[in-house]
Amino acid sequence: MSYDFSAELASTAIDIQQALDALLSPHALRGPGDPPERLVAAMRHGSLNGGKRLRPLLLRQAAGVFGVPAGRTVQAGLAVEMIHCYSLVHDDLPAMDDDDLRRGQPTVHRAYDEATAILAGDTLLTHAFGVLAHDSLDADPAVRLRLVAELVAGAGAGGMSGGQMRDIEGETGFLTERAIARMQAMKTGALIRASVRMGGILGGASDEELCWLTDYAEAAGRAFQLADDILDVVASPEAMGKATGKDAGAGKQTIVARIGLEAARRQLGEVIHDALSAILPFGERAAGLRATARFFAERQS
Ligand code: IPE
Ligand code: IPE
Ligand code: MG
Ligand code: MG
Ligand code: MG
Repeated sequence: MSYDFSAELASTAIDIQQALDALLSPHALRGPGDPPERLVAAMRHGSLNGGKRLRPLLLRQAAGVFGVPAGRTVQAGLAVEMIHCYSLVHDDLPAMDDDDLRRGQPTVHRAYDEATAILAGDTLLTHAFGVLAHDSLDADPAVRLRLVAELVAGAGAGGMSGGQMRDIEGETGFLTERAIARMQAMKTGALIRASVRMGGILGGASDEELCWLTDYAEAAGRAFQLADDILDVVASPEAMGKATGKDAGAGKQTIVARIGLEAARRQLGEVIHDALSAILPFGERAAGLRATARFFAERQS
């Protein structure tokens, strides 16, 4: 049977939605005290709101190369998605991109308030690592620890958070095309890279196989942010579920701003080609990863 991308995208979204729904309850989140209702509600608002769930999809597909069943990838995918959702909640704050709309709904600080949005992001981040550490993820604690280290690298100062800092710094300066690419490899690429590598780790990939996956992920991550920047210029807020046409006015340093729309589109085609080439050694086993790379180039939302 040929590979069905839409079916895998949809079933990943359902799995992640269900896993988030189960985790984000006062009972599952309890500590020495009970979680405040308002905090849990804001966490749910910032995560149970119809994202594409592309990072859990990538993790599942990378693990699938090694025959790991989809069900065994949900918990690790959930952790990555929680980090991604936290990054969006904070990215939208007035102190950062100051956005009112996310995934077609009011942003968390709009629906609640800024302090609640900061705490909701913090708490999604914290519990993501609880999800990774839990022994139901994988019986082998060494695997769980490798996943934790991978997600720290992807989300931390040399990854997503650091990239967000560089993005903000760039608003008041000038970045060369190379510096923009470096900043984007951190703010968006690092979490995509971590997702793919975490799938490989779950699947017991060899060092060489992990290298191929990493080359794929770095190219796919670059493609992803190129598409995001192109869509900011050409797509409607209705299609994207978030404001568009804002990057230029906010002084955002994007590849589109630096080299123009047509050159950025050409570059998008080139990096997709790089992503596909990197996973050639996996042959048919990488049909899912190939389809997702193509989707990154073609997506309209
Ligand atoms: C948007 O990511 C933020 C960027 C890293 C550019 P997605 O386009 O994956 O957002 P959702 O999760 O589907 O809303
Ligand atoms: C955000 O990049 C990347 C994150 C780490 C959240 P953008 O600021 O371009 O993402 P959107 O366009 O708001 O989704
Ligand atoms: Mg931003
Ligand atoms: Mg933003
Ligand atoms: Mg953007």
